[in-house]
Amino acid sequence: MAKMWTGVTAGITDPIADDFNSSIRFDSRLYRQDIRGSMAHAAMLAARGILTQEESDALCGGLAGILADLDSGALQIDPACEDIHMFVEQVLTERIGEVGKKLHTARSRNDQVALDMRMYLKDECAELSALIRALIAALTDVAEAHKASIMPGYTHLQRAQPVTFGHYLMAYAMMLLRDLDRLADCRKRMDVSPIGCCALAGTTYDTDRRMEAELLDFADIAMNSMDGVSDRDFCLELMSALSILMVHLSRLSEELILWASWEFKFIELSDAYTTGSSIMPQKRNADMAELVRGKSGRVFGDLMGLLTTLKGLPLAYNKDMQEDKEGVFDAVDTVKMCLRVMAPMIATMKVRTDNMLAAARTGFINATDLADYLVRRGLPFRTAYKLTGELVAKCIAEGRVLEDLTLEEYRAFSPLFDGELYTAIDLRVCVDKRLSEGGTSVGSVEKQIAYVRSVIADD
Ligand code: ARG
Repeated sequence: MAKMWTGVTAGITDPIADDFNSSIRFDSRLYRQDIRGSMAHAAMLAARGILTQEESDALCGGLAGILADLDSGALQIDPACEDIHMFVEQVLTERIGEVGKKLHTARSRNDQVALDMRMYLKDECAELSALIRALIAALTDVAEAHKASIMPGYTHLQRAQPVTFGHYLMAYAMMLLRDLDRLADCRKRMDVSPIGCCALAGTTYDTDRRMEAELLDFADIAMNSMDGVSDRDFCLELMSALSILMVHLSRLSEELILWASWEFKFIELSDAYTTGSSIMPQKRNADMAELVRGKSGRVFGDLMGLLTTLKGLPLAYNKDMQEDKEGVFDAVDTVKMCLRVMAPMIATMKVRTDNMLAAARTGFINATDLADYLVRRGLPFRTAYKLTGELVAKCIAEGRVLEDLTLEEYRAFSPLFDGELYTAIDLRVCVDKRLSEGGTSVGSVEKQIAYVRSVIADD
């Protein structure tokens, strides 16, 4: 097909090169943004007297028709076109004639594609943030139901101190709140319109960039035209934020996989989110969680890919920049899929509080509380720590737990012990006494839940 840009060059004749050069396979998803941007451009050109109102109306009418036909499927994207921008302009000219050729006045594909990408990703930010909120809500609901369910908390994956399952889940809710915040922050810098930067240097036409930005709901315009067409920081920032989010989802997935194993059995995932094995009839595999964990790798890869593509590029636009799309689209699509599967998986899992409590009863996770008990009776912490260690060693040697030792046995270690020690090492008491802000007591977890709910209810 004849290229619209044939001028000094006769146009690519090698079909392999043509295919290599084309981006329509992956940029056709920008058609709505492209058409909306073009309508604003036509309106601005008329407002500045660069086109007549009739010409602008003809352009907008034609564009609206193309949008409706693409939406309904009446018009198919032509894969032989170089990119979505060329496709829309070509169809427009076919439909409304010569005036269609006036649309590209005071504009270049360089500012056009940067505009489309920003518009597209701004919309995606809204969707991503709604999905993150839904996952936070699911976590918070389960946390509320289990704000008093005792389980072992771990460090180094060794049983450490008792916590509640609600407290545990709220830790993930906090991570996701930061993800929301990062997304909102990167959206701020995305909300800057590059249209009107043209190829790189601006234009000799008397355009109104601010009008166009306003029509397209941008908060500001790019202040330097060379930066405007070559900036892809907004893609990098979004992929960075999404990579960090995927770290969180991957860690949560890892917990779900461990907890669903026979070694833990703290949870049972719903059948809807587990698969069987083709040869082992007893298997319930946490495939969805494993896939979320696995997909974190491709999102990090998408970020690395674009960082590497951009790092040596001279100003301003270079065709390398066409490589921004597949990675950032893939990152967004992948994260959305992961969020969509995580929220209902969390909401439907069965929590085995019996197994959590049984695990909490072994592993001496109340040893710190026993040491603190001695400290309250005047022993320096280091001495109390050592003495408690000796008691734990005795229990391990005899296959017992701290709760099993008699008062006489305790008193053989220190006369400071009295009957109250059993209350001090009661797991419920250990949890309830951790009243410090952010701690694991029921009241503290309730505050965390209320805080998170108030943040996600905002806007
Ligand atoms: N398809 C191109 C891209 O995605 C559009 C911009 C092309 N500009 C150009 N000067 N060839 O980057």
